[in-house]
Amino acid sequence: MNDSERAGLVSGGLSDGGQKPVKVNKLRGIICWGVFAVILVFLIIMTSVFTEPKSYKAATPVTYLTGEDVVLYNGLGPIKVLVPTTNKLNALANYQLGLQLLQLFWYDLAIQKFQTAQSMDKRLAMAYVGEALAYKQPLWQTEDVAAAQAVLARMDANIPDNYMAALSGRERAYINAVRALYANGTSLQARETTYSTLMQAVANEYQDDPDACAFAALSLLGQLNSVGGYLTPEQAQQVRYNADELLGDCTFYFPNHAGLLHYQVYLYDVDNLEEAAKGVTPGIALGKTAPVSSRAQHMRSHIYMRLGNWSQVVDSNTAAVAASDNYCTAVKGSNTCDADNRWHALEWQMYGQTQMCGVTAATTAYKRMQAVAASQNYTGDYGQWLYRMYAHLQLQSLNSVAAVGLKAASDNATAMLPPPLYMTAAIQNAGDIQDHFWPPHAEAHALLARIYSLVAGRTLTQINSAAANATIAAAQARIDAIVARQNDLTAAAANGTLAVAAAGSAANAEMTALLTTVQLQARALVAAYSCVGGDSSKCGVWRPLMDQALALHNNFSSSSTLPSLKIAPTPEFYGNLLVATLPVASDPFEQATTASRMFSVCLQQLPGRMQCVLGSARAAKALGNTDMAKSWYSQLAAQCRAGDARFPALVEAKANTAPSPPPPKKSSGKGLRRALASSASA
Ligand SMILES: *[C@@H]1O[C@H](CO)[C@@H](O)[C@H](O)[C@H]1NC(C)=O
Ligand SMILES: *[C@@H]1O[C@H](CO)[C@@H](O)[C@H](O)[C@H]1NC(C)=O
Ligand SMILES: *[C@@H]1O[C@H](CO)[C@@H](O)[C@H](O)[C@H]1NC(C)=O
Ligand SMILES: *[C@@H]1O[C@H](CO)[C@@H](O)[C@H](O)[C@H]1NC(C)=O
Ligand SMILES: *[C@@H]1O[C@H](CO)[C@@H](O)[C@H](O)[C@H]1NC(C)=O
Ligand SMILES: *[C@@H]1O[C@H](CO)[C@@H](O)[C@H](O)[C@H]1NC(C)=O
Ligand SMILES: *[C@@H]1O[C@H](CO)[C@@H](O)[C@H](O)[C@H]1NC(C)=O
Repeated sequence: MNDSERAGLVSGGLSDGGQKPVKVNKLRGIICWGVFAVILVFLIIMTSVFTEPKSYKAATPVTYLTGEDVVLYNGLGPIKVLVPTTNKLNALANYQLGLQLLQLFWYDLAIQKFQTAQSMDKRLAMAYVGEALAYKQPLWQTEDVAAAQAVLARMDANIPDNYMAALSGRERAYINAVRALYANGTSLQARETTYSTLMQAVANEYQDDPDACAFAALSLLGQLNSVGGYLTPEQAQQVRYNADELLGDCTFYFPNHAGLLHYQVYLYDVDNLEEAAKGVTPGIALGKTAPVSSRAQHMRSHIYMRLGNWSQVVDSNTAAVAASDNYCTAVKGSNTCDADNRWHALEWQMYGQTQMCGVTAATTAYKRMQAVAASQNYTGDYGQWLYRMYAHLQLQSLNSVAAVGLKAASDNATAMLPPPLYMTAAIQNAGDIQDHFWPPHAEAHALLARIYSLVAGRTLTQINSAAANATIAAAQARIDAIVARQNDLTAAAANGTLAVAAAGSAANAEMTALLTTVQLQARALVAAYSCVGGDSSKCGVWRPLMDQALALHNNFSSSSTLPSLKIAPTPEFYGNLLVATLPVASDPFEQATTASRMFSVCLQQLPGRMQCVLGSARAAKALGNTDMAKSWYSQLAAQCRAGDARFPALVEAKANTAPSPPPPKKSSGKGLRRALASSASA
């Protein structure tokens, strides 16, 4: 493809070729100017003869948009693709807008724009392609195949065969790829890999098309994230490599394409911190390229999260929530407006705030989610967002937030148990199972946090009071039911009882393991605090449970830092229980040493995790290592500089970093155990 074609297809995003200055002799200069003048006069005449000012203005698609659509069109990135065959610029404008929204996972609005484009030109094949693609969310592990198939059927009904055959090669290639993605009678793996191969071929053949490149890269990332996971580690490595190459090449030519930047940040959202750090630059570029997209503002926080850059996590997500708020206010949208992006960012924002000991700010964010969830009757994703945020707030605030209800206390004044999100009664239909990870995951963690609120720091009398006892028992029973259901689903998937599409999801061993760790931790929690409270019969009970949980945790294949997943990570949870039970420990030295190791593992997986910094300080202090303790407490105080001055962990950190007058005596190894025993019993 030559440059003029490229320029015709794409506006913006191309860097200039860096041409060398050329020395021109005078005569040639005069001739050039003469030719130029003639052409100019000719153009002026032609323009006045053939172009009315009005239709000249109408030549840009954006003039066919109004209101917030114009803001979006101009604020989602400068690159507009003119691929589709259409002579209706209003349809083209809506198609372009839909495509930009799609590349930024603003799926619901993208679907509306593609449908509007179809209504303006029902033969605009690419608008059906775009809409169909919006029914698959590769990185969220969800899809609606039936809806996509219905779109393709509508396309076939609306576009005559001869017209279809006359479309450009590129359009036909896109259509073929999308048909493969939603083909009947084949596995998820086959659909995804065939689509990916076809899309990569489109990207290869039409190198001027950054969207083809972006879709191809997304299809590779989608394989890496597919439900159940079908790639071997070697295949996964190759797929990652291919995605890296593709995105590297395409962002070189199209450095401002929001989709390419979006997926590049995602590509670098990995455990290896050196690799992850590569995501900072595209993450910042993405935010600038698409200022009105919530998703574009949120993405860089995936990287900051991994690095433990908490204030950047909070800022990025605050900007993301604000972007959604701005748009939704302008269009007078409800709480459901841009919901996926807005409330996801709010969850991350609140998590970042808890990591900076900003419990007041975090509680404000939580309360906003509570009002939003209430407006939606706590259904679907709204319930899940709320339950996870509740669990984070309760656990990360170290129980210092006065009872934060999942629903208004009047809804269930006695028990305040989270109402079920997850139907355990029967094997769900395939649609539910597609997303059957998040409801049980969110509910189980909310139950765990509820139990925590009733036992952490409580006396034995409080723990054993009839009301607490009943609620704890009910919460544990419900977690047991959730785990049992997950095991049934796994068994059913293994014996072929479930439909193929559901089986991949249900058989997810990691899902089962994660829910089981919650179950084990919920039991260990009650036993450990009962033991601290003086019920010595519980002292031997809790550690074997935590050891089982740890074995499962260590078996997880991935160690994502997603806040939505890392609500009660086992090393942190275990370390905290070891520290909490130090006063009654039979071997406090062993316990503090083990706790220290747990927190160190936690910090390797989750750099800067507030409770693991705190726990490291507490364990060091218990071991009599004052300097080490002070260093950890200083780190906590620095991390929580902007936090609540009265947050207990911060108060503790300040008390332990206050200058201590006399230089500490060097302690011998033997003295350690004694120092520890006396500090533990103090
Ligand atoms: C795919 O299968 C579904 C359900 O069996 C059916 O309704 C639909 O028409 C099929 N679509 C195609 C394109 O064959
Ligand atoms: C983010 O964290 C990394 C690793 O801890 C650190 O090197 C870097 O300076 C931090 N960046 C910012 C902007 O704070
Ligand atoms: C919530 O429930 C109420 C009462 O059952 C109902 O009137 C309302 O339509 C529901 N709202 C939503 C968003 O589901
Ligand atoms: C309130 O809690 C009790 C005890 O767990 C339970 O039986 C009841 O169903 C709950 N009510 C609501 C409305 O959730
Ligand atoms: C509730 O109380 C009974 C009897 O005192 C006790 O056996 C049981 O372990 C308690 N349950 C919980 C969850 O604390
Ligand atoms: C298959 O799984 C289902 C659901 O758990 C179960 O009811 C059924 O007994 C199992 N069948 C076999 C042959 O294991
Ligand atoms: C660890 O995972 C493997 C493979 O998924 C499984 O076979 C094994 O039983 C797991 N071990 C534990 C302790 O869960």
